[in-house]
Amino acid sequence: MAHFTVDKEKCNRDGICVAECPTQVIQIDSGEEIPRPTDDFGDYCLKCGHCVAVCPTGAMSLRWLGPEQCMPVNQDLRVTPEQAGQFLRGRRSIRAFKEKKVPRATIEELLRIACSAPSAKNQQPWHWVVVEDPMQVRHLAGMVVEWASRVIQSAPSEAEAMGLTRVVDSWNKGYDRVCRGAPHLIVAHADKNWPFSTEDCTLALSLLDLYAASLGLGTCWAGYLYRAVNAYPPLFEALDLPPEHLAFGAMMLGYPRFRYPRIPPRKAPRVIWK
Ligand SMILES: Cc1cc2nc3c(=O)[nH]c(=O)nc-3n(C[C@H](O)[C@H](O)[C@H](O)COP(=O)(O)O)c2cc1C
Repeated sequence: MAHFTVDKEKCNRDGICVAECPTQVIQIDSGEEIPRPTDDFGDYCLKCGHCVAVCPTGAMSLRWLGPEQCMPVNQDLRVTPEQAGQFLRGRRSIRAFKEKKVPRATIEELLRIACSAPSAKNQQPWHWVVVEDPMQVRHLAGMVVEWASRVIQSAPSEAEAMGLTRVVDSWNKGYDRVCRGAPHLIVAHADKNWPFSTEDCTLALSLLDLYAASLGLGTCWAGYLYRAVNAYPPLFEALDLPPEHLAFGAMMLGYPRFRYPRIPPRKAPRVIWK
């Protein structure tokens, strides 16, 4: 069966699908011809759907994806640079949460947006654990503190560099510096042997983070937690992660208790212009 079909009537031979294909597996033999797959199409197509999505006339259909299955881009929803600038600068890490749960449907939408992140070779390698139960989040934070106490004993300089003593001291005084009392936790995990799992999961969590802000939700990277997941087998098992995976990021999630009326400054770009 053909890898893709091209509607001859609709195709205007503009070559856009050829120019945009990331792996050059679409070719046009002469100006009059319609695009056709290269001989190695099956080996190298990333299944990114770009050829279908970019075709201005909707002429291109992959075996598994037609133009009608792609969401149209609504130009009325384009954000202005001013909106984007304020939104991106105004995103904050939130560490004080309301005691209110986020509906599952909202978390599902966050994950769908996260899954639209770029990923190396379009592998989309991310998997998710969503801890919905606030008591379970607290339990996991306690396990991170257990791990931190062990690192303080076994590798004091490493513990010092990570600030683990303060994490344990705070916990003993009743304050959770691991999950900050967030009602939910989202962990991204992926194959430990895929060389781009770190970047891919980070990017997916970053989109989740931004979309959460647009919904008025609060998020914060749970750095101690995912470091502990990969280093402390009881925590890894508590999250039911497959043995061939590692956690590549984790995010606290909930409704923020406070709003930021100002945006704190950040370092100016340090650049070498060539
Ligand atoms: C990889 C990573 C790990 C982080 N881990 C934690 C964490 O464990 N606890 C926490 O309170 N904040 C954590 N943060 C949030 C940073 O402290 C925060 O991004 C930084 O202070 C800047 O604040 P802003 O995000 O509001 O701009 C982490 C951020 C990143 C990128």
